[in-house]
Amino acid sequence: MKRPHVYLNMAMTADGKITSAAREYPKFTSAFDKKNMDRLRARADAVLIGAGTLRADDPPLHVRDAEMQAYRESLGKQRELVHVLVSGSLSVDPDSGFFNPERADSLIVATVDEAPAERVAALEGKAEVWRVGSGRVDMAALLERLHERGVEQLLAEGGGELNWALAQADLLDELFITVAPSLLGGREAPTLLEGPGFAMADQTRLELADLTREGDEIYLRYRVLR
Ligand SMILES: NC(=O)c1ccc[n+]([C@@H]2O[C@H](COP(=O)([O-])OP(=O)(O)OC[C@H]3O[C@@H](n4cnc5c(N)ncnc54)[C@H](OP(=O)(O)O)[C@@H]3O)[C@@H](O)[C@H]2O)c1
Repeated sequence: MKRPHVYLNMAMTADGKITSAAREYPKFTSAFDKKNMDRLRARADAVLIGAGTLRADDPPLHVRDAEMQAYRESLGKQRELVHVLVSGSLSVDPDSGFFNPERADSLIVATVDEAPAERVAALEGKAEVWRVGSGRVDMAALLERLHERGVEQLLAEGGGELNWALAQADLLDELFITVAPSLLGGREAPTLLEGPGFAMADQTRLELADLTREGDEIYLRYRVLR
């Protein structure tokens, strides 16, 4: 199967949480981390998020920093990143920032065969709606289709359920993880990987490719071992 290189970028607290139990907008990283996030976006052809992240945060997904946008252009990338949303239910607000009409031709929503027709209709014209799988979005099939569309570098930006869907299907190649100097705790606060998790015998093994420190933050880069 031909698919893009998939790299994940997430920030977590020292106790592994990606937001609070109340799912507030994550605010525990520095300006340096935000610039680093833009650097990772600059080399991507597309960025992928789960519907939980859209519903909780509706985060901006473009390259915001002018220097990083210039870096993107120096790499010969298209000006706009393709934005891809994964949602089985399509229970998302068609007026959210994700569906910016100025980017309509670079927005893709990946859903399932059973997606309610009225919700598909509400998104048509705002984004391309792809049915990729039955029951759950078939992540391997989605990646294959994105590759056919010219996506060679795919940046996954969470949240935990979407990350799990990628990890479970063995579709992650690299992980960029920022460890922030804070604690959130909370049984209900999501971590990097949600879902049912792997059995001990099936854990994904990683190789530490890089480790840097900036102030009190740690930047980790892992490669997935196969
Ligand atoms: N710290 C960070 O770096 C960071 C980054 C991103 C997000 N976050 C936080 O993470 C939280 C959201 O995480 P989350 O785990 O709740 O949600 P999520 O992973 O963003 O989204 C989960 C949703 O994505 C859809 N989905 C994922 N895989 C699917 C599949 N294979 N087939 C069909 N649909 C699929 C489903 O949508 P439907 O329910 O619509 O079917 C599912 O409910 C937010 O609070 C956000 O702040 C933190």
